[in-house]
Amino acid sequence: MYLPSDDIDRIMAVMRTAFDPEYGEAWSHRQVADALLLGNCHFLLAGPDGEAPPPDTPPADIAGFALSRHGLEEEELLLFAVCPRFRRKGVGERLLVRFAEAARGRGARRLLLEMRRGNTAESLYLRHGFHPIGLRSNYYRTLSGSRIDAITFVCDHEN
Ligand SMILES: CC(C)(COP(=O)(O)OP(=O)(O)OC[C@H]1O[C@@H](n2cnc3c(N)ncnc32)[C@H](O)[C@@H]1OP(=O)(O)O)[C@@H](O)C(=O)NCCC(=O)NCCS
Repeated sequence: MYLPSDDIDRIMAVMRTAFDPEYGEAWSHRQVADALLLGNCHFLLAGPDGEAPPPDTPPADIAGFALSRHGLEEEELLLFAVCPRFRRKGVGERLLVRFAEAARGRGARRLLLEMRRGNTAESLYLRHGFHPIGLRSNYYRTLSGSRIDAITFVCDHEN
């Protein structure tokens, strides 16, 4: 029996499979718990259709999640992931749209995110009104020691 209070376990079930260890992007349980304690961080869970799953869904059946931080009139997408077995079925796209709607509902006029150069998510972001506004050269260091740029994207209109 899984409870709605197991949401961090649901997030972590996706976290463990979705992020390539090469890039060191996955957060620990503690990092997620601490972020959610702050009060300005919000998450969305997705079932296999990209919609909010029933509250008692077992962690293994969660397809994806989004975690964001709200600021003054803006919201930053901090983490966005779909389990490999649920990919290329529109779950990520639906989550991104749900994130934008939820953030705008909280008063965000600008949506932000940072992406490692070359991430396959780029076409999805561009299709949903995000555009690059900044570049941090060689910002990420991979497990194997190479450096990758971080690109900041913004979306400042309804889409
Ligand atoms: C990015 C991610 C969330 C996409 O999830 P998804 O459920 O597969 O996304 P969708 O099925 O909604 O795909 C939407 C679009 O994104 C693009 N896309 C997603 N995966 C892609 C891939 N492997 N190669 C090329 N384009 C891809 C395509 O444009 C795709 O549309 P299409 O299937 O009609 O061509 C998922 O690949 C993931 O969890 N990646 C690892 C974590 C990560 O890097 N998150 C983003 C951090 S910035």
